[in-house]
Formats: sequence, C-alpha cells, structure tokens
Amino acid sequence: MLIKITKPSDAKTSEITPQSLFKDRRRFIKAAAATGAGLAVGPFLMAQEAEAGAKLLGIQKSKWQLPEKEWTPKEDVTEYNNFYEFGTSKESPERNAKKFKPKPWTVKVEGEVDKPGDYDFEDLVRPHQLEERVYRHRCVEAWSMVVPWVGIPLADVIKRMGPTSKAKYVAFETLFDPERMPFQTSSSLDWPYVEGLRMDEAMNPLTLLVTGLYGEELPNQNGAPIRLVTPWKYGFKGIKSIVKISFTEKQPSTTWNKMQPGEYGFYANVNPEVDHPRWSQAKERRIGDFLKSKTLMFNGYADEVASLYSGMDLAENF
Ligand code: MTE
Repeated sequence: MLIKITKPSDAKTSEITPQSLFKDRRRFIKAAAATGAGLAVGPFLMAQEAEAGAKLLGIQKSKWQLPEKEWTPKEDVTEYNNFYEFGTSKESPERNAKKFKPKPWTVKVEGEVDKPGDYDFEDLVRPHQLEERVYRHRCVEAWSMVVPWVGIPLADVIKRMGPTSKAKYVAFETLFDPERMPFQTSSSLDWPYVEGLRMDEAMNPLTLLVTGLYGEELPNQNGAPIRLVTPWKYGFKGIKSIVKISFTEKQPSTTWNKMQPGEYGFYANVNPEVDHPRWSQAKERRIGDFLKSKTLMFNGYADEVASLYSGMDLAENF
C-alpha cells in the first residue's frame, strides 16, 4: 500500500522496495548479527532474533489448503508487512511492534445488533473452532504470498451477535493508542485505521477473523491479537488489531478510500482488468519467485465470490 506522498508525483511500481532487495538486506543483517558484526547495524537488530511464537492448540484443518511447498516462508510473512501504526517501511512493523502487548484485549460490538457489548478476546474467540486456512494473499502493490492463517469464520461470530434487519454493512476499527502504536503520532494516515464489508461479503465462508499463522499466535506485526482476512480482496482490506466491530445501515468509510478515493475503492476486489491508476494489476510477484505470474480474478476465489458482485460494474466499483 503506497501513500501518494508528494502531490500527483506518481510513484511507479519501481519505487516499491523490490522484495528481492529487501530480502538480501535482511539476510545481510542476519549474517552480520550471527557473526557478531551486528553492532555495526544497530544493537536492536541483535535482539530481534530472540522471539518465537506460542503454539495454538486445537486447530482444525479446513478445506482451503495449498501444497506446503507453495507456502511463503514464515520469515517473509512476518518480516515484510504493512502496518502503518508501526512505521511506513516494510521492515518497520516487525521492529517497532516488538513491545506491543496485544492481551488483554477487548472488542466492542455495537450498532444494529442484538448482542452489543465489550467482548474480551477470549470470550469472542473461544466459542468458535479455530481453523487453518491456507489462502493466497495479494497486495495492491502487486506482490503476493501464500499464508497458512489460523482463525474463525467471521460469519459464525456475526450469527452469534445477531445483526438486526437494518444491518447492511460491518465496519471495523483498529486500536487508537499512540503510546502503544507509536506512529499514530504521525499524520501518515487518518487514525484510527477503519475498514468495512457489505454484509454478504462479511458472511461469505471465506471471510476470516485471524488470530494466528503457521500454527502460532498472530505476531504483533501481522495484526495481533485479531485481524480480518478476505482473500479475494487486496491486502489493505485486512484491517489489523481490531477493537471495534459495528453493524451499520450505511456504507462505512474506509481508511484508504478516504485517503485516496481515486486509487482505493470500497470494494478492493482483486481484479487484473482494473489497473491501479499508477500501475498495472495484471501480474504479481509471488514473494520468493523471480518471475511474475498472472493475477487471477478475485485472487483465484471467483467460484466462491463472483456471484456477490453480479450486475455490478467492477471497473466503477473497484
Ligand atoms: N491494518 C492497519 N490497522 N494498519 C495498516 O497499516 N495495512 C494494510 C492491512 N491492514 C494496515 C492494516 C495493508 S496496506 C496491507 S497490504 C495488509 O494489512 C498487510 O498485511 P500483512 O502484513 O499481514 O501482509
């Protein structure tokens, strides 16, 4: 996700840190740390290597699987992130979110719903079966990953909350706490980060509230303790560290649409036929691959979601 920093001075895809260069830099840093040369690149980098995620128990395999050899290495999934609350470069969330304590955590449920309230993370998640879903993850910046997420279907949570007949949309909000999310003191985004789905999108079986990856607790930089994943949409729909879920009658506003309405629509469906105004969306580079591959309509999930948009002009509703 790229902010248009200077007015229409059109960043090109070439301005996005190429992932191969990024990886080489990471490898250099790791090698330097291992050989004791780490001090040359900063002491905090030495400390980075220490942490490991806690295993999640009772995960059921789902029908959404992809061969393990296609999975993006965990290191890439957790070290190449967008999470502007912790900085704007790809490596900054991993570095700057280290001290963030995601629990205890409360999610407020409000609006057009029978059971509003403040739900402790455990009360929100524990009644549901944790599943592993291996999804393709396509960023609007034209790179992609394959991620073994762990989570619970959003539809199950919605059914439990009991939306009223007026609930047409579901809106999500990220924590706003500049003391814990240091880059919220910057004006890079309009805080707090917000997202939304139409009710039928939220109820689609693919839509997941994610609490882990690679069988482990969700790392802070990936949106701990709970985030959204809608695999047929560009990654920016995947709001992280959610503290509020609201059921609304009107279409909610979304962070990137507010920031740059001409570039990021409410729907944000992966659509190779609709270019981003500053680059093509026809191809993507799978992290770790040298060559680009063709981007698939709805990120390859057309059978499951195309019917949600029948009759809509997807070039208009991008
Ligand atoms: N959620 C919040 N709260 N803040 C963010 O900056 N970035 C979005 C999305 N969710 C973002 C966010 C963008 S641009 C992308 S591409 C995905 O998170 C990246 O998720 P990942 O780090 O798991 O790949």
